Amino acid sequence: MTASLEALRRCHLAVDLGAARTRVYVKGAGVVVDEPSAAAVNTRTGALIAVGTFAEQMTGRTPHYIRVVRPISGGTVVDIEMAQRMLRHLIGEKLRRNLRRNLRLRAAVCTPHEADPLAQRAAIETMVGLGARRVELVDTLVAAAVGCGLPVERPEATMIMACGAATTQVAVLSLGSIVRAERVPVGGEAIDHAIVQHLRQAHELVTPSQSVRPLQLSLSGGGLAQDGPASTEVHGRDVATGVTRSVQVDNAAVRRAIRTPLTAVLDGIGRVLRDCPPDLVADLADTGIMMVGGSALLPGFDDMVRTYTGMPVHIAERPEMCAVRGVGAMLEGEIRPLVLDPLA
Ligand SMILES: Nc1ncnc2c1ncn2[C@@H]1O[C@H](COP(=O)(O)OP(=O)(O)OP(=O)(O)O)[C@@H](O)[C@H]1O
Ligand SMILES: [Mg+2]
Repeated sequence: MTASLEALRRCHLAVDLGAARTRVYVKGAGVVVDEPSAAAVNTRTGALIAVGTFAEQMTGRTPHYIRVVRPISGGTVVDIEMAQRMLRHLIGEKLRRNLRRNLRLRAAVCTPHEADPLAQRAAIETMVGLGARRVELVDTLVAAAVGCGLPVERPEATMIMACGAATTQVAVLSLGSIVRAERVPVGGEAIDHAIVQHLRQAHELVTPSQSVRPLQLSLSGGGLAQDGPASTEVHGRDVATGVTRSVQVDNAAVRRAIRTPLTAVLDGIGRVLRDCPPDLVADLADTGIMMVGGSALLPGFDDMVRTYTGMPVHIAERPEMCAVRGVGAMLEGEIRPLVLDPLA
């Protein structure tokens, strides 16, 4: 599905529409947008009130006539019109005018591995609405592998795990293409959800959405391992009485709660390894797995993968930026295809 490097070199901008964050790379300028994929709308007038960080901050804090919407879900544009309006505002007036002047605007969009035709169509239409005359699709996994510097074009196996907000994708690549891949519909959102559910069941506490991350961070001493701090204080609202209170949350119990969604991810890794040709798996014993995507930063996640697979596990530098960096490198023509000498 990934467009040719030649076609990508002719693109002017690249967009990674993630469930959590939208990132835009403009040729020659680098990453110009890295903002939450959210928009706040006035439901009475239909007017857009805010996009990006500001809109996300409004989540759960709006009067009834303002709604915060997320036009992208699970790596797929679910609301094309809203995604276009959001992108227009994120890209900004100045840049937009520059782009509009370009009558042959070409854009690249990252799409999840094996995105269905409907999802591909939605991504293309979003960009066409922004003025693109031609849209190239890039597999997120290939983009991320390039972005974190994996030697994808060589005839040896590399394994990548893209841990996003809505999905986790695992793949083995060789000779610039994906050999085996799996997409598990579990990501950072599912992990946050597991923590929220746990606090509700074990402590009868409703937490504001923003307080989940501090709890994750408190696990970071030993991560998902046993040697972190024993408990963390969390503020929230009592389910029954509605008054605010704080509780001491047992970190080990939180670790157990988030293990359930993470097990689905580990199963996905297992399936990829099982289906992979043995020669490639042998390569992987040395090179290991590269984790990219924001959720790769979840404390202790890498240890869990290491224990499960027994292989070396690395977290990429700025893991959440790998996909957009990779597609950016392709736009700039920094990636050379491996020249295979025809034997004739
Ligand atoms: N330091 C951190 N610790 C734990 N989780 C984190 C951290 N930083 C970001 N995340 C999680 O990473 C996710 C965002 O990652 P990323 O930006 O790669 O997602 P995305 O590309 O928008 O999603 P997708 O690829 O699934 O469409 C969020 O769910 C967020 O909770
Ligand atoms: Mg992503």
